[in-house]
Amino acid sequence: MERRDFIRFSGMSAAYALLAGSAPFLISSCRKESMMMDMGGGPVNVIEGTFDVSLPIPSAINGQGSFTAQNTTHSIFKGKNSKVLGYQSGSILGPTIQLNSGGAVNLNLQNNLSEPTNIHWHGLVIPANMDGHPEDIAQPGSSFNYNFSVNQRAGMYWYHPHPHGFTAKQAFKGLAGVFVVNDSEEQALNLPSGAFEIPLVIQDKRIFPDYALDYSPQMGEIMTGYMGQYITVNGVYSPYLNVNKRNYRLRVLNGSNGRIYNIALSNNASFAIIGSDGGLLASPQTVSSLILGPGERADLIVDFSSYSLGTDLYLVSKTFSAGEAQGTQEFKMMKFTVSQNDTDTFSLPGTLSVLNLIPESSATKTRTFNISNAGMGHGGGHSGMNMKGMHKINDKTYDADRIDETVQAGATEIWVFDNSTGAEPHPMHIHGIQFQVLDRTGGRSSLIPIENGWKDTVMLMPGEKVRTIMTFHQNKGKYVVHCHNLEHEEDGMMLQFEVV
Ligand code: C2O
Ligand code: CU
Ligand code: CU
Repeated sequence: MERRDFIRFSGMSAAYALLAGSAPFLISSCRKESMMMDMGGGPVNVIEGTFDVSLPIPSAINGQGSFTAQNTTHSIFKGKNSKVLGYQSGSILGPTIQLNSGGAVNLNLQNNLSEPTNIHWHGLVIPANMDGHPEDIAQPGSSFNYNFSVNQRAGMYWYHPHPHGFTAKQAFKGLAGVFVVNDSEEQALNLPSGAFEIPLVIQDKRIFPDYALDYSPQMGEIMTGYMGQYITVNGVYSPYLNVNKRNYRLRVLNGSNGRIYNIALSNNASFAIIGSDGGLLASPQTVSSLILGPGERADLIVDFSSYSLGTDLYLVSKTFSAGEAQGTQEFKMMKFTVSQNDTDTFSLPGTLSVLNLIPESSATKTRTFNISNAGMGHGGGHSGMNMKGMHKINDKTYDADRIDETVQAGATEIWVFDNSTGAEPHPMHIHGIQFQVLDRTGGRSSLIPIENGWKDTVMLMPGEKVRTIMTFHQNKGKYVVHCHNLEHEEDGMMLQFEVV
């Protein structure tokens, strides 16, 4: 074992240390294989660039058209071409799909990959057979037609592949995009729009020496999630955006596999959160930092009007506490340069939206999902090298042939995610529904501002338990609930529920 590897090995996460509870077999079989093997799983430090590439904004389409999942190239790093996966030739990330509530999607996905793929519409409340369930896939060379209408609140949703066993790799290599729904309630607020409404898809990437995206998780990275050294925004590394002296609406998606961000401005200026996963909050929440887990979105208003021309500000990720594999480093993600005067008449409304809170008393059932993975490392049997299936929900790993929960259409239920004795963070996500977060006990022990709205993904830090409430729709069929750390999901941290 090289010293570098030894350091990584000894710096392993608490969860990983738990695994090492079964260390005798682990070490002995590892030694047989190779003690030199890099287990991965330690913190992956971010390498900052020089912020000299203009931030690209994905083109927008209205929901009609065709995507071709394919191997292609994209310039993630200035002057270099990286091999990536795309829905169009020459582009990582697909176009932004933007439509009004009530509008329709009619989109053909052609699979030109050599493995199955599909599209899941993260956050959309749509029929089960259109949801991109892990079993509803397009085989290589074939296609799948997505045809559904969108009848939900304005918000920033997103799309990405979901074929079981390939989700994490395909998302990491570039298959994802933003899905914006608009409605009249939002329209009436006159929020910054056009050039002043900027989607920011934050992801971390790892590369081979030839700049091709490298998705090759080691055992330890299945525990922690696969993280990259290079932070990309809208598919490019180290970008800048020239801004006017005015308010901007920044619509942030954490599209990373495993990395959590504690979003802030480099001068610690406060900003307003106006929306979360499922659209606008009831009123703006002013903060100076915001933790965003994989899959979560935040709709922000940032006011650049008080800075003098030429000021550089950075969007940074501050340190945070989330187990041992991440949160220890503060890093810059992109640069804003205040470069033009403007007259801005926008002022933040005191009230944004009407949120109908679901009364707890209307719930007819409570289901608890134990995500602590406390049994980790004890069921491994003989092969210490076989660390697959360490991530479970209620002690089960995903099985497409098993229905884990049966839910009545129209029922209101409380779903409890319990990470009380867990040592890893888990962003828990439910398909085909938007929920509300009732409370959090343990850890941070209260809701954070983005949780005062509709959510489809909720972040559980080690030691936390969160109660959510939701009313199931009339769309019947099979959906999944899973951890949106995509390595955890692939490892089996996903269950299936059926609405009947
Ligand atoms: Cu964005 Cu099943 O996930
Ligand atoms: Cu989803
Ligand atoms: Cu997880």
